[in-house]
Amino acid sequence: MSNLDDCLLKFEVPEIIHGEGSLAVVGECARRLGGERVLLVTDPGVIKAGWVDQAIKYLEAEDLKYVLYDNVVSNPRDFQVEKGVDLYLRKKCDVIVAVGGGSPIDTAKGIGILASNNGQIYDYEGCNRITQPVPPLVCLPTTAGTGADVSQFAIVTDTRRSMKMTILSRAIMPDISIIDPCLLTTLPEHLIASTGMDALTHAIEAYVSSLSWPLTDPHSIHAIKLASNHLLRATQTRDLSALTGMTVASLEAGIAFSNAILGAVHALAHPLGGLYDLHHGLINSILLPVVVRQNMEHAQDKFAQVARAMGVKSRGMEAKDLAAEVPEKITRLIENLGLPTRLSQLGVKKEDIPSLAVLAKEEVCMLTNPYHYNVAEIEHIYKEVW
Ligand SMILES: [Fe+2]
Repeated sequence: MSNLDDCLLKFEVPEIIHGEGSLAVVGECARRLGGERVLLVTDPGVIKAGWVDQAIKYLEAEDLKYVLYDNVVSNPRDFQVEKGVDLYLRKKCDVIVAVGGGSPIDTAKGIGILASNNGQIYDYEGCNRITQPVPPLVCLPTTAGTGADVSQFAIVTDTRRSMKMTILSRAIMPDISIIDPCLLTTLPEHLIASTGMDALTHAIEAYVSSLSWPLTDPHSIHAIKLASNHLLRATQTRDLSALTGMTVASLEAGIAFSNAILGAVHALAHPLGGLYDLHHGLINSILLPVVVRQNMEHAQDKFAQVARAMGVKSRGMEAKDLAAEVPEKITRLIENLGLPTRLSQLGVKKEDIPSLAVLAKEEVCMLTNPYHYNVAEIEHIYKEVW
């Protein structure tokens, strides 16, 4: 990135199609992007839920050929991307359709990178390393949280180092995101809760990021409002209107963080996810209240706005006191969702904290946090929630 680029703010979004039943346009979208032969990237859980059969029906209705690639697990691995690229090239595919949560979508992005760029997936870790345009990508998210369907991020685990790599490039922004709230109706409650906490984390981190600006802030604040209003009900009742609210929360949070980037929660979460193969949303949920408490004095006015968006009555309160309500509100929400609150509950070992802190300090998401923590301060944050 040049010095000039460092001073510029950007705003990138894919084409977005949202609404109940929008899955039906997947074939039309793939066809419109010039596709003839689709690599359909998904995972066994989404197949079992029946959404892949539905998608195939709509691809066939457009006379599209397809190849299924379902060798994807939570926290997708480097070798799964490599196998997917091999299939894409052998079968002469020309468009990728990803149906699933963040893992199939990030795998699809990795496949796209290697299908048109040389080398290995490790070569693209960091910012703006992709030089060749990638194949067209259509995403159908089945969770409301990751924002991978509208973001220029891909997170892939480097199994050689047991580390999550962050790949950031406008080249991997999907072409079309089709968001059908009906796809969430088969999601287990605990995944609605943990992926929803990921969305809330995206919105808060993007809002206080050093790269936030007037095009990202309204999306962040609206996503915080929507998640505060809908996440608990979506988890407890699976009511379609609450699930729809969460799809918009996830969408707006995704748009915000893709353009404003993230912060210390994600910087601390990624090394944990790489080492222990834990659910990303669950780790964020545990880290969010303590990181907000630490970040508060560095972005007090913004956290006061977050408090208002979360429903704190602000009459007569000073910004400092309003901001202090945010970690309390988040903690109450996590308790009501029934999610774990300590890293030790997920099997994290205390002796790993020093090396995790070194990795978190260098994580790309730390660059846009309102305050740059040193390794000792990061260790302290991990220990506080251990
Ligand atoms: Fe995330």
